[in-house]
Amino acid sequence: MLVLGIETTCDETAAAVVRRHDDGTGEILSNVVLSQAAHAAYGGVVPEIAARAHVEVLDMVVAKAMVEARLGFGHLDGIAAAAGPGLIGGVIVGLTTAKAIALVAEKPLVAVNHLEAHALTARLTDNVAFPYCLFLASGGHTQIVAVLDVGDYVRLGTTLDDALGEAFDKTAKVLGLPYPGGPEVEFEATRGDVRRFHLPRPMVGRPEPDFSLSGLKTALRLEAERNVPLTEQDVSDLCAAFQDAVIEIVTDRLGVGLRLFRERFGAPTALVIAGGVAANQSIRDAIDRMAFSVDTPLVAPPAPLCTDNGAIIAWAGAERLARGLTDTLEASPRARWPLERATSADGTPPSGAAPLDAQ
Ligand code: KG4
Ligand code: ZN
Repeated sequence: MLVLGIETTCDETAAAVVRRHDDGTGEILSNVVLSQAAHAAYGGVVPEIAARAHVEVLDMVVAKAMVEARLGFGHLDGIAAAAGPGLIGGVIVGLTTAKAIALVAEKPLVAVNHLEAHALTARLTDNVAFPYCLFLASGGHTQIVAVLDVGDYVRLGTTLDDALGEAFDKTAKVLGLPYPGGPEVEFEATRGDVRRFHLPRPMVGRPEPDFSLSGLKTALRLEAERNVPLTEQDVSDLCAAFQDAVIEIVTDRLGVGLRLFRERFGAPTALVIAGGVAANQSIRDAIDRMAFSVDTPLVAPPAPLCTDNGAIIAWAGAERLARGLTDTLEASPRARWPLERATSADGTPPSGAAPLDAQ
């Protein structure tokens, strides 16, 4: 099964072709990602600039993905696009493009939930069996999710305020580092003294596996303000302290999440990490040690597949297509779309899932 996937929910314009074999394994035939550089000057993603940039380059990105896969649209079995959640202007561009291709090539459309794409990536890279525990940590989301089947997700924990990637980005901004902040903070932390500053670890020890990051963010800002003008060493030491706090928070929260998973669904086949923050090597290593200590294998897809790209959208499309789940050309772009309602683009929740009002 060959599927084209289009991703435009944030500041990456991306398209890819993947193949799903009958035995459920996957293969990436092409994966073209164009990151929009224009936002760096603003220290964050500007939605209008993002939408316009997607319009300008998406045709070319799709064409490149098809050429690299050595395929024409006629060879495909389906066209998938991320239909949300995300910045609505960009989502409209990607979904409309996918609809146009589906219409002209007479192929089924799959409107993919971007979070579901992150959730299913480990099946593309490692053929992980259900059920597994997912830690999704990106710029917009921080969730611990029980992945029970395609379209069957139960959220165990979430952030009460900022997303983890957002906390990295805000930390970078406070310290004068460029956007996106995650990789910058990670790099600076390698040169920093982790013992110089001690930052708080909100929620650590609490019985429910939720996150809260605004207190950590504020503590970092106050510490930075106390030390102005910041030297390079100050910046590195603050990054090391921030990342150290994040690691302790994440491993503690995941420990609780895994315990809760076991109580409700039995032993997971794996702990899977996804989202941009999962590209952080120190966080990956710490999670690996924690998972090992509770006899749960860690599956961490390669970093380029943890951040936003078209292959994960194409793969989620292929998984849905393999189960006969397709969408009509009426499918709507959505700014908000909770993962637990990812069963269909019209928002029908899977049976047994608790309805949620917000992401
Ligand atoms: O999944 P993603 O590419 O896009 C969203 O859906 O948000 O995640 C982007 C986020 C940004 O906040 C970025 O700073 C963060 O992931 N990120 C990292 C790292 N690489 C990207 N955070 C920590 N360490 C990294 N190495
Ligand atoms: Zn993402």
